[in-house]
Amino acid sequence: MKITALGNNFVAEVGDIDVRTVTTDQFNELYQAWLDYGVLRLRDQPLNEDELQTFSARFGPLEEIPMGRLPEAARKKIKNRYVTQLSNIIEDGKPIGGLGNSEAAWHSDMTYAEVPPPASVLLGIEIPAAGGNTYFADQGAALEALPLHLKQQASKLTIKHDAAHTSVGKLRPGFEAFEDPRDAPGASHPIIRTHEETGRDMLYLGRRDWAYIPGLELADSEALLDELWCYAAPPDNVWCQVWQPNDLIIWDNRRVLHRRDDFNENARRLMKRCQVLSKHASAS
Ligand code: SIN
Repeated sequence: MKITALGNNFVAEVGDIDVRTVTTDQFNELYQAWLDYGVLRLRDQPLNEDELQTFSARFGPLEEIPMGRLPEAARKKIKNRYVTQLSNIIEDGKPIGGLGNSEAAWHSDMTYAEVPPPASVLLGIEIPAAGGNTYFADQGAALEALPLHLKQQASKLTIKHDAAHTSVGKLRPGFEAFEDPRDAPGASHPIIRTHEETGRDMLYLGRRDWAYIPGLELADSEALLDELWCYAAPPDNVWCQVWQPNDLIIWDNRRVLHRRDDFNENARRLMKRCQVLSKHASAS
């Protein structure tokens, strides 16, 4: 296995690897690289759903796909509870996956949960000729860039993370619309969060929309969130993944934010994703 740094202080390419056949020693090396770099890209991994699921489960128990508040009967009809499709493709009049062709705003995955998934594993299947790139921003570097006064203020506060909307701004099934971020359902986490495995502090903002800092007046919460977000993803702290089919990206939601460009609605894009639950008792 060959590990090559791609970004400034995060992101590495892992070459000479077939994830279907990695030994325990190789997996341990890969896992350490994931902790060290926050984002790994592995090219040429033509995995089927079972192989993607089996490989992802080596990082920890898998999270069921986000189903919002879908009733149990509708949940039972879902083919694979551990592999989510992200796609704009319509088959038999129905979308075969989530997020469509829209831009997805900066976020880390499922921060509205009490214990969000640490690892996301995303496989590119069908890739449009243009657009649909995925960007990552290092939240260790973001925290280091915060001015001291802001760091001190943030260190005493939490953010409540909205569970009701997706990263493309759509209401999830079963949630009602609301006007005030204070009414958003979702878990709260410290704004500065210590990574359980590396011990490093990270800025942990989740998503900007519908976020709220409990204990502050709404206007003060909005102003502080806006200020913090200025440090989250400046251009020199962002790495861009331009997808090829069979690219596999593994990222650490405790370390990085990600976002996605929109793309032409007539192009086809299909990705498959697994999310890995925390092996640790508490996410905050
Ligand atoms: C996401 O998790 O926001 C989607 C990433 C992507 O489709 O590239």
